[in-house]
Amino acid sequence: MGIQFDAEQSIFKLDTYETTYVIALSREGYAGHVYYGKRLKAMCGKDLLRMEEPPYTPSLHKREKSAFLNVFPMEYPTGGIGDYRESCLDIRNEYGNMGCEIFYRSHRIIKGKPRLKGLPASFGEEGQVETLELLCEDPVLDLEIILSYSVFEKEDIITRNIRIVNKGQKIRRLEKVYSACLDMDNRDYEVITLHGAWARERHIQRNRLVYGKQRVSSGRGETSHQEHPFLALVTPNTTQDTGEVYGMHFVYSGNFIAQAERSQYDQVRMVMGISGEEFCWKLCPGEEFQAPETVLVYSDEGLGKMTRSLHDFYREHMIRSPYKYRKRPVLLNNWEATYFHFDSEKLLDIAREAAANGIEMLVMDDGWFGKRNSDDNSLGDWYVNEEKLTSGLPDLVKKVNEIGLEFGIWFEPEMISPDSELYRTHPDWAFCIPNREPCQSRAQYVLDLSRADVREYAYECVAKILRSAPISYVKWDMNRQLSDMGSSYLKADEQQELFHRYVLGVYELQERLVAEFPDLLLENCSGGGARFDPGMLYYSPQIWCSDNTDAIERLRIQEGTALLYPLSSIGAHVSDCPNHTVGRNTPFETRAHVALAGTFGYELDITKIAEEERNQIAGQVELCHKYQPLMQTGDYYRIASWSEQRPYDCWEVAAKDGSEALVTYVQVLAVPNWHSTNIKISGLDPEAVYILEGTEKTYTGEELMYCGFLVKEQNGDARSCQYHFVQKKTDAI
Ligand code: GLA
Repeated sequence: MGIQFDAEQSIFKLDTYETTYVIALSREGYAGHVYYGKRLKAMCGKDLLRMEEPPYTPSLHKREKSAFLNVFPMEYPTGGIGDYRESCLDIRNEYGNMGCEIFYRSHRIIKGKPRLKGLPASFGEEGQVETLELLCEDPVLDLEIILSYSVFEKEDIITRNIRIVNKGQKIRRLEKVYSACLDMDNRDYEVITLHGAWARERHIQRNRLVYGKQRVSSGRGETSHQEHPFLALVTPNTTQDTGEVYGMHFVYSGNFIAQAERSQYDQVRMVMGISGEEFCWKLCPGEEFQAPETVLVYSDEGLGKMTRSLHDFYREHMIRSPYKYRKRPVLLNNWEATYFHFDSEKLLDIAREAAANGIEMLVMDDGWFGKRNSDDNSLGDWYVNEEKLTSGLPDLVKKVNEIGLEFGIWFEPEMISPDSELYRTHPDWAFCIPNREPCQSRAQYVLDLSRADVREYAYECVAKILRSAPISYVKWDMNRQLSDMGSSYLKADEQQELFHRYVLGVYELQERLVAEFPDLLLENCSGGGARFDPGMLYYSPQIWCSDNTDAIERLRIQEGTALLYPLSSIGAHVSDCPNHTVGRNTPFETRAHVALAGTFGYELDITKIAEEERNQIAGQVELCHKYQPLMQTGDYYRIASWSEQRPYDCWEVAAKDGSEALVTYVQVLAVPNWHSTNIKISGLDPEAVYILEGTEKTYTGEELMYCGFLVKEQNGDARSCQYHFVQKKTDAI
């Protein structure tokens, strides 16, 4: 188990419970990739490195070094020296030349996992994770490059990160530093990625891997609505339960690339890291650069097993919040209820009605500060608008608390409106290229978070408000993507550091926030779900998934999100109909069933909705209380997908001990002249007997798993139902 080193053969073997990863050193000191896949008991040879066949080993056959570099499976390929596949590390020397070559020098194996300075990263105790650090060197550039591998045995996850230390006397320019590479032979792989747009985030996309480079990326300064820092290679016909899957997921919230490249020899190189476009880091003597972490996952039992590994891993080793497994309050957010048009009285009316129906928290969204009655002003002026909150914020919070609700609040601390006191005082605090008018998006500019004084201001704005009243929750929003990347603070040869420095600035702010307010429930958000990534999970246990709250649209969005992220992290609310984004009407019950596959809350004017809907709320809140522990800890199974052109969508969460399972079925479109639908339920104890709650019916686990369960057709579109199977303790088969 864990990490073993065979000194005689120079082989490192990294084992999780069900996977093995093997690295071998060539006689020159190249770290080569031998194997990643199903767990091996022993690994005794490094034949897979193809060292003994043409094009031979470079130290013995110098004239064919370039041919060697074109096929050798590198753990961390470098640029400019003859490997023409995508490089992971491009460095420019003092003469302006780009070239880097790294050689193994030594290694260390550490119990546990060191932190990554300034960056979010997975964590674990000794006994849960072991780390291998390969210390490599470029002797010409005087650089030490540390390739780090952390092995999480139980969750079948290996994470990688890279650190570069300038040991010499010269400045080095890092033009590209990716975080992981996986070289393999092609096996007719297909590529799975997530793509989207505002209100259509994380739809699943699958294509054949063809020759050349297939890449998803972001140059928008955040992970983005459009692409996601995830890529999986799967063997043909991989399903939820069968096929092999190699997944990579990036723990970062800025520009990224995720790419698979199929080469002339039918080899595949999969890479992930900070995008090399508009990136250049000046590394001065004695300094080090820490690249973010990449998560690697392998499954030989289809996508479902990959999903469950990632869910367990993120829950146990990425989310730090005390709310990880704690009951989350059922909240009502006033955004779709009132937009900017509210005052204390309106909020208190909503709060009273919410409390009467079992809701536990009121979240005051955008519009409470400056003179903000529309989205074109006041970002940066984080003082309470007392025309709206007539007796001030502490008094409002007190009254809401007296009604019996906790209080939450919205901020957008990274932004500045051109129409704000802050901008009039500090125009140089916004990103701007000299002599060029910066591009507005949602009538706002971006604060230059590379500056310590700006970070201090932004932090204090939020912290002062939180110190002023008992506020339990913050929604931290970010509503535009970055452009006009110019900082009045950085020197000309540091401006290409700005995208990354911005992300580091965001991380620093959120780190301070969770340190000063450890009990705060933080929810990240970015124009819906544009910054839904593992990096943000390190700070906030939940992230707003999409501004699209339509139950049917959410099926596809939440399916793609839950492919990687635990349900407990997916912000989901019941909203009013016709839906504000798509104008669709769906039953109130269906909206709740879909939101129950996330954090669950409401985003509607509870004082105005139809009584018949309001009367359902208390029961839905009860359902949330009842199922939340299962949703937070259970195993997720995707049973059927509306996104794959089925007329229905279906998922399940089963308790890890098989004691219960909750199945949610949404009949999106009614089909005429149809019969019932057979669905197979997973994660049960085949030997046990289960009762379908609310009925007298019993089934054996094996019946439900192998024969299936029949769901009856309902009359109408967008109908849904939930089936809760509970194990009978007494009689086994
Ligand atoms: C973003 C968020 C919304 C809401 C608005 C407020 O779009 O995603 O939920 O908070 O901002 O302006």
